[in-house]
Amino acid sequence: MERLQKVLAQANIASRRKAEEMISAGRVKVNGKVITELGFKVSRKDDIEVDGKQIIMADLCYYLLNKPTGVVSTADDDKKRKTVLDLLTEEDRATRVYPVGRLDFDTAGLLLLTNDGELTQILTHPGHEVEKEYLVRVDGIIIRKTIKKLREGVIIDDDYRAVPRAVRLVELDKGHQSTLLSITLVEGRNKQVRKMIEAIGHKVKKLTRVRYDFLTLEGVERGTYRPLKIHEIKRLYAHKPLKMS
Ligand code: URA
Repeated sequence: MERLQKVLAQANIASRRKAEEMISAGRVKVNGKVITELGFKVSRKDDIEVDGKQIIMADLCYYLLNKPTGVVSTADDDKKRKTVLDLLTEEDRATRVYPVGRLDFDTAGLLLLTNDGELTQILTHPGHEVEKEYLVRVDGIIIRKTIKKLREGVIIDDDYRAVPRAVRLVELDKGHQSTLLSITLVEGRNKQVRKMIEAIGHKVKKLTRVRYDFLTLEGVERGTYRPLKIHEIKRLYAHKPLKMS
C-alpha cells in the first residue's frame, strides 16, 4: 500500500506536491469515491481516476541500458529512426518505460529507462546535481592550459557559463593526434559536452557516457540492458530532498 499522492507521482500524473493539490481539490477518485485525505493509502489493484480519467498503474520498472550510437533516445522519433525502446524485448517495452534525460544520436553509453515518473523528476531536477561522467575522444592534442580553461568553465549557448564538476586527462594519442578526456557534469544542457569542446576550438570524435551517479556500464554490453537492483533504486531515490518543489 502506498500513499495516493506517491502513486500519482509515480504514474507521471504530476509532482507529489501537485498531486496533493489535486487530491485536496477533490479531483481524485478511488474505486468511484472522491478522496480528499492526503494520507489515503491505495494498492495497485485500486481503480484510481483523476478528473474522471482512469490512471494506468503499471508495475514500476527500471533498466540500465548501454546505448549504441545510431539510435535516438526519445521514445518515438518523427524521422522514424530506431529508438532505444527498440532495444528492449517486447515484454519490457510493454511496461511503458522511457528514457531519463537523453543522449544524442551519436552518443553511446549509460541511459536509464523507467516508468517511474517520480524518480525521473528527482533525477532530472536541475538542483539535485546528479553526476554524469563522459569519456570524450577529441580531435587534436589538448594542452594543459586548455584543460584549465575547461575546468574554469566555458561559454556555450551565447551566454551560459558551463562549469563541469571535473575534467581529467585520460590519454594523449600523439600518433593519431587525439586526446581522451573524462568530463563530469551535474547538469544536462542539450549537447553540452559537444558545445564545451567546440568552445575550446576542438571537435568531438567519440562521446560515451560511462557513469550516471554511482551506476556504471560494468557487465552491460553495448546495445544490451539490465534491470536495476532494489538497493540501486533506493540509492537513486536518496537524491530526493526532504521538501521537493
Ligand atoms: N553532452 C552531449 O554533447 N551529448 C550527449 O549526448 C550528452 C552530453
